[in-house]
Amino acid sequence: MAVKICVVGLGYLGSTHAVSMANLGHDVIGIDLDSAKVNLLNAGRVSFYEPGLESSLQESLSRGLVRFQTSFKMAETPDVVFVCVGTPESASHKSADTSHVFSAGESLTNVISRDTVVVGKSTVPVGTAALLRERMSAVAGLPVHLAWNPEFLREGTALEDSLNPDRIVIGSWDDYSSQKLKEVYKPILDRGTPLVEVDVPTAELVKVAANAFLATKVSFINAMAEVAEVSGADAVELAKAIGYDDRIGNKFLRNGIGFGGGCLPKDIRGFVARAEELGVGEAVSFLRDVDAINQRRRAWVVTLAEQELGELKDRKILMLGLSFKPETDDMRDSPALDIALRLARAGAKVTVHDPVALHALGDKHPELIGEQDLSAAAMDQELVILGTEWSEYKSIDPASFGDLVANKLIIDGRNVLDVASWQAAGWRLIALGRNVHN
Ligand code: UGA
Repeated sequence: MAVKICVVGLGYLGSTHAVSMANLGHDVIGIDLDSAKVNLLNAGRVSFYEPGLESSLQESLSRGLVRFQTSFKMAETPDVVFVCVGTPESASHKSADTSHVFSAGESLTNVISRDTVVVGKSTVPVGTAALLRERMSAVAGLPVHLAWNPEFLREGTALEDSLNPDRIVIGSWDDYSSQKLKEVYKPILDRGTPLVEVDVPTAELVKVAANAFLATKVSFINAMAEVAEVSGADAVELAKAIGYDDRIGNKFLRNGIGFGGGCLPKDIRGFVARAEELGVGEAVSFLRDVDAINQRRRAWVVTLAEQELGELKDRKILMLGLSFKPETDDMRDSPALDIALRLARAGAKVTVHDPVALHALGDKHPELIGEQDLSAAAMDQELVILGTEWSEYKSIDPASFGDLVANKLIIDGRNVLDVASWQAAGWRLIALGRNVHN
């Protein structure tokens, strides 16, 4: 049965969630204070690159299942409100800034009824939900039904992840709220998707714990890469060998220039900050190392460039890829962008190419030379660095690409290039964590 749903906050998470709720047949209103975002969504467009999302949005709009607005005023009281606002890293570069969660909660107190279930989806420090429930109930003058339902979608496969999740986690204080959420997710649950019902603090923690584990896995293999680089071992083969053990698993073990994006880096820092507030900072202090290993990989690429080229001043370097991973134009904390900026700061003339993210660079980084055409970007370069593993880069023909550059030298920051064919075309290829004999 269709549920009347409201989604507050129409960023990556909220717009994907609104579209997937409409996809399940619910009646959805999306709210965001940003009128440009709202107008774009009502016109069937999304402000970021996410495969498949726009077409699904357009279908839901044409079926009249979703609409977007800036005001919290609604003709009918919603049954369920999902809070999907951002929780960015605070200015102190540590804890998550939850102010948008609380201001959304306050605005909602005027429009919800006793029967509405407010559901948090934003990634928050453990304990936020309890405080939100207390404050909302005080302002509304009635006990607010609040539940927590973390989202695990990945950019690039957001809609698919949201409609076909590995699991649904529901944290609630009362049966009524969890029943309502089960009604919302019925089509997904009926397919046999695992449901994990927990208390609210556990639901809040599940999200940060999952991201912390993923970040740790990436930094673990990058730590192995550091050891491999000085001992003549090969971290790619090592990952394959340990990954066959299903207790370890072979996913999220690709070594390279590390993790970025709007979630993993900020979530591990926020987690450390929250644990310290709770007096258990030591329990997660290893996450500082996870962060440090990740940062060291970026610095290592700059060191490699210096080792290969000597003085970086005025040397011509091409960065292939700007987004933090393929299939997105998101450059938040992108390792590729960060390395390009570090090289430019060292005086290099850095050209950047990306199949979709270049537009998002705008005029924010005048020290970088943006080039949309791959062949033009390659012209006369002395060093090429692969920073984002777009499929376009994997299919480059090393022979003809080699004719364009001044120096056939490439650092594969993501370990996706076929070493033998690049070497056969006369390239010196440096693969992170690998012992490839050039
Ligand atoms: C991450 C989580 O994977 C999602 O489950 C979660 O919902 C989301 O954060 C969030 O909190 O919203 P996302 O940021 O889209 O999703 O990106 P990931 O696919 O997790 O990749 C993160 C970074 O790790 C990328 O920069 C990627 O290049 C890097 N990575 C990933 C590696 O360097 N090696 C790997 O083996 C895997």
